[in-house]
Amino acid sequence: MLSAGAEGRGRFITFEGIDGAGKTTQIARLAEHLRARNVKVTVTREPGGSPGAELIRSLLVKGDPGRWSPETEILLFAAARRDHVERLIRPALDRGETVLCDRYVDSTRVYQGTVRAALRDLVDRVHDLAIGLDPDLTLILDLDPGAAVSRGARRGGRETRFEGFGPEFQRSLREGFLALAAAEPRRCRVIPADGPAEVVAARVAAVAEEAFS
Ligand code: TYD
Repeated sequence: MLSAGAEGRGRFITFEGIDGAGKTTQIARLAEHLRARNVKVTVTREPGGSPGAELIRSLLVKGDPGRWSPETEILLFAAARRDHVERLIRPALDRGETVLCDRYVDSTRVYQGTVRAALRDLVDRVHDLAIGLDPDLTLILDLDPGAAVSRGARRGGRETRFEGFGPEFQRSLREGFLALAAAEPRRCRVIPADGPAEVVAARVAAVAEEAFS
């Protein structure tokens, strides 16, 4: 059973992976699984999750792929994250709730810090200085980019700026997430995201339960 963390603080669980890996569906399923066990859950997402951060989100996910340099992106994501942590994530954790967040700093480490540019050090320094909150557990949903692209295309929509970087970009992202998981095996768990949603959901629930048992 997933109980509160040290000193009654809630658990902070983030979901990561390439675009179209199925994070949104799996977060909803884990939330349902935990609520059925009387765990109080807050579900949120990045970029966004608080009113101020949602305003910054629209600057980031819409428009031309070249709209921002990787350095500017790092600062915009950090500004959005700071507001999100202050206004939503920390208060929920302080109330003892489990927070499930769709993307967090590992997305910045991989998208802006590794794949778009070699700026991992800048991402980590900004994170340490301005954010300072790390997840207790990070679930990386791993899927072949070919399968993920067809899921994304079905979804459609206008928030396509990052999909606009192309399929090679998605392959590099996948490698980036797997490298991150290999470097931090205690916090990060890789979950194969192929197959029916209920099969993936069972894998996610088992890993989350095991991590906190
Ligand atoms: P999101 O809405 O989660 O897209 P998806 O449902 O495809 O996962 O995130 C929007 C885009 O923002 C996504 O392509 C990943 C990108 N992103 C970054 O590049 N860096 C970051 O730090 C975060 C949080 C997201």
